[in-house]
Amino acid sequence: MNEKHSSARSVPQTGGDGRGAGRTRLHRLPEWTALGKHREQLGDTHLRDLFAADPERGSTHTLRVGDLYLDYSKQLVTDETLALLRDLAAAAGVAELRDAMFRGEKINNTEDRAVLHTALRAPRDAVIEVDGENVVPEVHAVLDKMAAFADKVRAGDWTGHTGKPVRNIVNIGIGGSDLGPAMAFEALRSYTRRDLTFRFVSNVDGADLHEAVRDLDAEETLFIVASKTFTTIETITNATSARDWLLGELKAGQEAVAKHFVALSTNAGKVEDFGIDTTNMFEFWDWVGGRYSYDSAIGLSLMIAIGPDRFREMLDGFHLVDEHFRTAPPEENAPLLLGLLGIWYGAFFDAQSHAVLPYSHYLSKFTAYLQQLDMESNGKSVTRDGQPVDWQTGPVVWGTPGTNGQHAYYQLIHQGTKVIPADFIGFAKPVDDLLPGLVAQHDLLMANFLAQTQALAFGKTPEEVRAEGVSEELVPHKTFRGNHPTTTILADALTPSVLGQLVALYEHKVFVQGAVWNIDSFDQWGVELGKVLAKKIEPVLTGGENAEGADRLDSSTAGLVAVYRSLRGR
Ligand code: F6P
Repeated sequence: MNEKHSSARSVPQTGGDGRGAGRTRLHRLPEWTALGKHREQLGDTHLRDLFAADPERGSTHTLRVGDLYLDYSKQLVTDETLALLRDLAAAAGVAELRDAMFRGEKINNTEDRAVLHTALRAPRDAVIEVDGENVVPEVHAVLDKMAAFADKVRAGDWTGHTGKPVRNIVNIGIGGSDLGPAMAFEALRSYTRRDLTFRFVSNVDGADLHEAVRDLDAEETLFIVASKTFTTIETITNATSARDWLLGELKAGQEAVAKHFVALSTNAGKVEDFGIDTTNMFEFWDWVGGRYSYDSAIGLSLMIAIGPDRFREMLDGFHLVDEHFRTAPPEENAPLLLGLLGIWYGAFFDAQSHAVLPYSHYLSKFTAYLQQLDMESNGKSVTRDGQPVDWQTGPVVWGTPGTNGQHAYYQLIHQGTKVIPADFIGFAKPVDDLLPGLVAQHDLLMANFLAQTQALAFGKTPEEVRAEGVSEELVPHKTFRGNHPTTTILADALTPSVLGQLVALYEHKVFVQGAVWNIDSFDQWGVELGKVLAKKIEPVLTGGENAEGADRLDSSTAGLVAVYRSLRGR
């Protein structure tokens, strides 16, 4: 299949990304005004009313994408709402920006970069060009190099400095260079080589590395240093400490590094400076954003864990949803739908957050992964051309696996005062290697999964409470207002392909929202200031008031520094 995307419709208007500076402000679009009016008309319409008016809603308001079954019937929308939201997407140019992304245009305008994580999972014969060059052959060359390396480690043929096979793999990275592989390793744990040990170190708090290596045999340990830029202070500090630990344990010199360190990066120069042989470097490119990178070389630890074939199945899952997003009509386009629903609640219900609640223990890191994906992408308050936004942008994303949350914070979702749209993600089958005695628990897990969205949607009326003989003063306390919007995503099982499908679904959802809000979802300037200030404060912590910059601290920070120094006996 040749997938050259240049046949896609070209982006109207001017500028590198086709979205000219003179673009209409979002809230002045007639489509936005129409949604506002429609919201007023909807008023207090309850999900109970919507289901009463259309008893088949639970089967008609669903979508199938690959292996994912999406039920959005418990969303506070009518067919008119959905049509108006799709009109908004059309007016905002979502499809045009999407096509520009797939074509490799530089839609990350503040960094002047293409946004091509979709190329990482394109088939070998696809043609996707950046600056006139097809990037797909390079993508597959790196995947092949990763596969050869992963096979060697899995076969016990990659030996350390003393000749022992490597059995412990420690990924050192942070943000996108940690959350993706760590999340996916956890998600696909049942597919991993249980006889190898995998650890993920990210925090510059020395405790993280300490706990990761304290019980490992250095002779059998491989460090994977994952950093797109290879300048991130946490990663370089941890990698340097790991090297010191390794050389100390092995009582060896620099020559031992080559057998125990590999790098995943776009920056060969910095990798070399660190002392890692660039033949042991797995490359990726500046058109892959950190939070969109775990299907690139950044996934090497995962590939060693699950094997190259499973890794490729995961990439196929991503690609399936990419193609769906690129080609499905708006009425059936799942990422478009999920993105628009989020915009609806943020703008017209004042929802401030979005809960993602996976009913799989293996997805324990999924929401944390989505936090970076969503909040680093859409936590912006100026438009692509630098104007302040007058509308809500990205929500706070949060959540933990069910059923734990049910016994903690679900109370607030059920009876609190906030509007919290939520996604429930579940699987029909438990993982294959679950102890036979535990398989029966899966039905109980899934009964909870289904019960929660039912309770959230329909609640319990005061009349229903009274009918149970509850005393009048307790009726308000035992009433559930209901009408809390949820999407349910159900799949057969948490396979590598399904994981890829889920991640791509959320990636494109985030894209849709950024496109409508007219923000650059692919930069992250907001993380810079804290990094710069930390560099200035560190010498003051160690050197005291004579250190450079100490006299320029505000009184709060200066006071905290003084207390810290005194507690450290300085
Ligand atoms: O500081 C934020 C960030 O740049 C993320 O976007 C990125 O995933 C993370 O730091 C790690 O960056 P790198 O892979 O370059 O070390």
